[in-house]
Amino acid sequence: DASPFTVGRLFTLTTWLLEQEKREVIDSEVAIVISSIALACKQIASLVNRAGISNLTGLAGAANQSGEDQKKLDVVANDVFANCLRSTGRIGTLASEEEDVPVSVEGSYSGDYIVVFDPLDGSSNIDAGISVGSIFGVYDPSEECRVDELDDAEEVLNKCVLNVCKAGSELLVAGYCLYSSSTVLVLTVGDGVVGFTFDALVGEFILSHPDIKVPDKGKIYAFNEGNYGRWEQGVKDYIDSLKDESKWGGTPYSARYIGSLVGDFHRTLLYGGIYGYPADTKNKTGKLRLLYECAPMSYLAEQAGGLGSTGTQRVLDLVPEKIHQRVPLFCGSKSEVEYLESFFK
Ligand code: AHG
Ligand code: MN
Ligand code: MN
Ligand code: MN
Repeated sequence: DASPFTVGRLFTLTTWLLEQEKREVIDSEVAIVISSIALACKQIASLVNRAGISNLTGLAGAANQSGEDQKKLDVVANDVFANCLRSTGRIGTLASEEEDVPVSVEGSYSGDYIVVFDPLDGSSNIDAGISVGSIFGVYDPSEECRVDELDDAEEVLNKCVLNVCKAGSELLVAGYCLYSSSTVLVLTVGDGVVGFTFDALVGEFILSHPDIKVPDKGKIYAFNEGNYGRWEQGVKDYIDSLKDESKWGGTPYSARYIGSLVGDFHRTLLYGGIYGYPADTKNKTGKLRLLYECAPMSYLAEQAGGLGSTGTQRVLDLVPEKIHQRVPLFCGSKSEVEYLESFFK
């Protein structure tokens, strides 16, 4: 059919959202929440691109609940996300890597959506100008998630924790924005995966990837092999096997790792292969957080025809017990993830 760029038929995130509303895949409330997330990503893209000339590199001077020293942009990106979401009047609860506990949002008047996010992923890369990203997930408001009839702060907090500790399989929306050679917003509303590339000339996300499918098999693996000595034997054996060219028709797998989940995942989603962050002797349950890194990425992987696994369990089946709970993550092409799982049996 006619190219999406036929004059007068420019497919932007906005027109795509209207299309999904017409198809009743989402309702207008969710469309407003996604639009506010896209606005946050546009602002963060601009901040990231100019970090080195606006005194936004370096440390903020505090640590987050995961025990990581917050970069200035971690904190700024967190504020940008919170402000954009708050202004929709449709958010009930927020949970972020950079917030110790979930936050109950005041002033919601139409919908109590629950949004979890990693406002700046791969932030160790920011000072070197290497790709970073944002990751987000949206859960449906359930009737009992309202907190306005509660006046005890402790009760409000407990309710907010319950609101966000849901299995990834319940996600309504999951996505990320990659801030790299181009700014790419990738998302799913449960009906496949689409990608939009930001066009600064019109200030819009333009549909560039109408139907992302992860190849069933790839030839790239993305693991931080600096941790090899700390991995359990099954993971060592798996990586050793990917390097054994006699197993792969004379060509071993290639290693690609930039230390930014969004960048490594996006390449894996488009090219195929596997991204892995295993548990190790120092990080006994892995490094990545279930709620706002592993679950949204696993939802996207499955919606694109791939898998998201801890090695022994489907990530989307896990219900977080703690907001910043870590789990091992192996995600990407079916072939490589299933092969990895065979080393855990
Ligand atoms: P964040 O910057 O949001 O804390 O996430 C960093 C994560 C992830 O982006 C990346 O894949 C991983 O940490 C890199 O960890 P290592 O540096 O230990 O490989
Ligand atoms: Mn961090
Ligand atoms: Mn992250
Ligand atoms: Mn982060």
